[in-house]
Amino acid sequence: MKHVLYLLLLMISTSIQAQETALNLIPQPAEIQQNNGTFTLTKSAKVSFNKPEIQAIAEMLVNKINIPTGFKIKAIAGNKGTIQFVLNQNSDAKLGKEGYTLVSTSKSIVITANQPAGLFYGMQTLIQLLPKEIESKEVVKMNWVIPAVKITDFPRFAWRGLMLDVSRHFFTKEDVMKYIDEMARLKFNTFHWHLTDDEGWRIQIRSLPKLTETGAWRVQRYGHFGDRDFPKPGEDATEGGFYTQEDIRDVVKFAAERNITIVPEIDIPGHSMAAIAAYPELSCKKDTSTRVSPGCKFSEWYGNGTYKMNVENALNPSDENVYVFLDKVFTEVAALFPGQYIHVGGDECYKGYWAENEDCQALMKKLGIRHVEDLQGYFMNRVEAILKKNGKKLIGWDEILDGGISPEATVMSWRGVKGGIEAAKMGHDVVMSPTTFAYLDYVQGERTVDPPIYASLRLSKCYSFEPVPEGVDAKYILGGQGNLWTEQVPTLRYAQYMTFPRAWALSEVYWSPKESKNWDNFIRRVESNFERSDMAEINYSKAIYDPIIKTSLKEGKLLLTMESEAPDLDLYYTIDDAMPDAFTSKYTHAVQLPAGPITLRVISYRNGKPLGHLITLRREDLEKRAAK
Ligand code: ACM
Repeated sequence: MKHVLYLLLLMISTSIQAQETALNLIPQPAEIQQNNGTFTLTKSAKVSFNKPEIQAIAEMLVNKINIPTGFKIKAIAGNKGTIQFVLNQNSDAKLGKEGYTLVSTSKSIVITANQPAGLFYGMQTLIQLLPKEIESKEVVKMNWVIPAVKITDFPRFAWRGLMLDVSRHFFTKEDVMKYIDEMARLKFNTFHWHLTDDEGWRIQIRSLPKLTETGAWRVQRYGHFGDRDFPKPGEDATEGGFYTQEDIRDVVKFAAERNITIVPEIDIPGHSMAAIAAYPELSCKKDTSTRVSPGCKFSEWYGNGTYKMNVENALNPSDENVYVFLDKVFTEVAALFPGQYIHVGGDECYKGYWAENEDCQALMKKLGIRHVEDLQGYFMNRVEAILKKNGKKLIGWDEILDGGISPEATVMSWRGVKGGIEAAKMGHDVVMSPTTFAYLDYVQGERTVDPPIYASLRLSKCYSFEPVPEGVDAKYILGGQGNLWTEQVPTLRYAQYMTFPRAWALSEVYWSPKESKNWDNFIRRVESNFERSDMAEINYSKAIYDPIIKTSLKEGKLLLTMESEAPDLDLYYTIDDAMPDAFTSKYTHAVQLPAGPITLRVISYRNGKPLGHLITLRREDLEKRAAK
């Protein structure tokens, strides 16, 4: 009896302790030791910095915490702060360039690192250790308590990126900065800025003014991308925008302050309709009626990866003037971005117009090239020479392997991980961003609820991503990124919705040790971060609360199975045209649906409260789903 009582007490006390100290850090640090006690931030706290080069980080923290606390905490030089930022005199090899240690006790918080980047990340962890109200824009009266911990943290990969497409939708400089700031909180360090495409050229090139005078603007259209009407002759192009070189410098500086390197992308030779609208002479047909695409159907896809462009959108590789043009573009781009990489695209280049062009045929003959596809290799090698002249390294989508590319080129694997595996085996550096795990434009929940796009990608799938494929030498995998294409993303709020929580999963995939991966633990932290994001007014998708509805057809019988990503959900459903609630049928196991024109309605509950969207699927929808 005594033993039982003791055990019971022990269970209660450990569960209380676990509740009190549950940490909700994303990405999960490499090593955490939780200690007894707490630190309380008060108005008498001071934030110290031991070297002038980290003053900006100390001030960033002070500015952040003074808003919701209402305190007037100051950053002071030296090592006397209650919160101390300490740049190591002697480098700690374990921490590398971006790692840090954070030790909180009842008396102080000390963050140490070899480089400012590590201190910046230690600061992000500290902010996540504070109550969620630290994200409030108004003063909140409360105890600002931090659990006592010892954290030693460093990233698994050196390249942890997100890509934002600003061509399909133009995001203002302020929007871009906000997106970068949100990335930095998650310890991403690379912002891949997709600056040009068929739907708009977004970067000012002083020596080629028409790129933005003409190429940054398209006619106003509404509706689903790809189904919109073509521009009419003489119709005004009023939608769009671009970044001046001054804007770019501001964004580069803002990013650098947050340990983020920007990789600008100029997508060539395909995806160049906006450039061709400005300078039609750069294409094969030189059609002066070419306009920036407002998202109309200019290509036909044949389902097996092959396609035809009904409007020419590729630069002409046989024209020397194209290389003069590219030399001007990349010389200006190289001068604006201090990072070592420039992304040159290379994806989905349709070569049909090259094949019909006499000059391209003559070039192929001269070079001894039999397949028009291989002209891209010639083109990319010319581009690489331009980048090299400007002191930059080439990175491109995995198609750059197709026609041959120098071993120094870095490959971004997007058509699955296949291109990345092939590239790594050839000795190229690789960044993994496969559609299958990392495409943030894909639908993340129920396809009849979220606005439709090409394919689906759930949070759990993102989280399951392993960037180093079996049989590949890990030294070639620089890391990975998530890509947000914006064909169907018209606002920053919606960009956030598409990005989070999936980028939380990817931040962990690219930062945290592989061994610490634990879905149950992660999803608990995701739910806690929903509340933190609400406080920060950052949008996110709650698709994890929606039932995942699957059907199968066996011998004419329709079988329904349902599950969910979030834990502890009850799924209630009806098939009798009543609205479901916590008193209708509760799903427990696979259900054979009766014959007839039934409609399934499902909604998730937790603790008696509705959580997810109401999902409504008619019999024909359910049957269609079974066929997939
Ligand atoms: C791509 O998604 N076309 C790289």
